[in-house]
Amino acid sequence: MDVRILRYDTIDSTNNEAAKQARGGAGEGLCIVADEQSSGKGRQGRMWVSERGSGVFLSIILRPRLEAKYLSLITLAAAVAVYDLLRDRFLIQPDIKWPNDVLVGGKKICGILAEAIETRDGLAVILGVGINIRTPEQENATSITAEATFAAERDEIVELLVEDVARLYKRLAADPAAIVAMWQERSSFAHGMRVKAALPTGDVEGITSGLDENGALRLKLRDGSLTTIHAGDVTQLRPM
Ligand code: BTN
Repeated sequence: MDVRILRYDTIDSTNNEAAKQARGGAGEGLCIVADEQSSGKGRQGRMWVSERGSGVFLSIILRPRLEAKYLSLITLAAAVAVYDLLRDRFLIQPDIKWPNDVLVGGKKICGILAEAIETRDGLAVILGVGINIRTPEQENATSITAEATFAAERDEIVELLVEDVARLYKRLAADPAAIVAMWQERSSFAHGMRVKAALPTGDVEGITSGLDENGALRLKLRDGSLTTIHAGDVTQLRPM
């Protein structure tokens, strides 16, 4: 993937701008970075607080030639890249909450929003990543500045992250199971955690039992049966 970084001062949402550019024909690897977003988007219609200089706000255009069942592994690969960056560059000990929130000490430091769109050149995935450099005034949030002893420089983070996302994206195309394995090695949510999953049909409680080949979360229910969660919010419950 040939990465090109386009920097903006203020923008509504880097995901929106990347989608606009993808619809206009921009190729894979174009990365939109902004100093601030006026309408940063989170998952499930939530907003993402994006004040000037407070974080990394970026979106990469991907044009995956993957089997559709593996598309959701793109966000898991991005979570692995953020995890490794925090661990290796900032000596932070993160965790990954299924599917792709990166946490430190139970508080969120990074969120990932991937959106699939149709363009005249076929399907594109807009991979948006927000990493807190300063802690936003939000419950359960933290930042690199709060967790690391090194200063965090936005442009360096962008370059390291985009390079690693490109590497893992290539790996995903060749070996999807490797991404699932990397995610499972890094996440305390992968195995043996008692969780509640909020589904449109109601809440389900169970013990996590790894991911399936598409990155869906397997849960062992109280009656011993297994169910698979493809989307939704998962919360840790106290062990019984
Ligand atoms: C989440 O809800 O956890 C996902 C948050 C994703 C935020 C990033 S910031 C850069 C990109 N542009 C957006 O509008 N959202 C994503």
